[in-house]
Amino acid sequence: MCIRDRSVIYPGSFDPLTNGHINIIKRASKSFDKVVVAVAVNSSKSSIMNIDQRVKVIKKIFKNNNKIVVDKFEGLLVKYANQKKIKTILRGMRTVQDFEYELQMATSNNKLDSTIETIFMVADANFAHISSSLIKDIIKLGGSAKEFIPGAVESELKKILDKRK
Ligand code: PNS
Repeated sequence: MCIRDRSVIYPGSFDPLTNGHINIIKRASKSFDKVVVAVAVNSSKSSIMNIDQRVKVIKKIFKNNNKIVVDKFEGLLVKYANQKKIKTILRGMRTVQDFEYELQMATSNNKLDSTIETIFMVADANFAHISSSLIKDIIKLGGSAKEFIPGAVESELKKILDKRK
């Protein structure tokens, strides 16, 4: 594969960003000149954090790393990738359960635009059990998620949920 621009898009819902996402982003920043963390506006999943809250907290986490750019996108990912002139999409793969969904997404994106390639990074074993949905459940039920998410994300989530009470 030719990584022409040495930049990669790491798309996701990031509701919320987890330590697993952070691990992938940091590792990717060692292999690529630029990692664009692209937060999806129109995620079909019902989100706790709105798009601006998600973008803000991710920017805060990576504020000292100039190889990591945080952005949002709406609509088709391949369109966004073309607008950014980045042809490589990065996704993390945790377990075999992820494989089917990721295969469908990567194949669909490649059918929509054959110039777009998806590459995968295998999740670090320390983070393979972490998912945003699980974390949302823990926080909603009053548990502590500090093992799974950064403090800044946890306090933002708690603030949002407290306001809703
Ligand atoms: O973190 P997630 O929820 O697994 O991320 C999924 C995401 C946002 C990357 C995916 O749903 C997406 O790319 N949405 C944008 C709409 C799109 O392009 N759909 C066709 C891709 S198959």
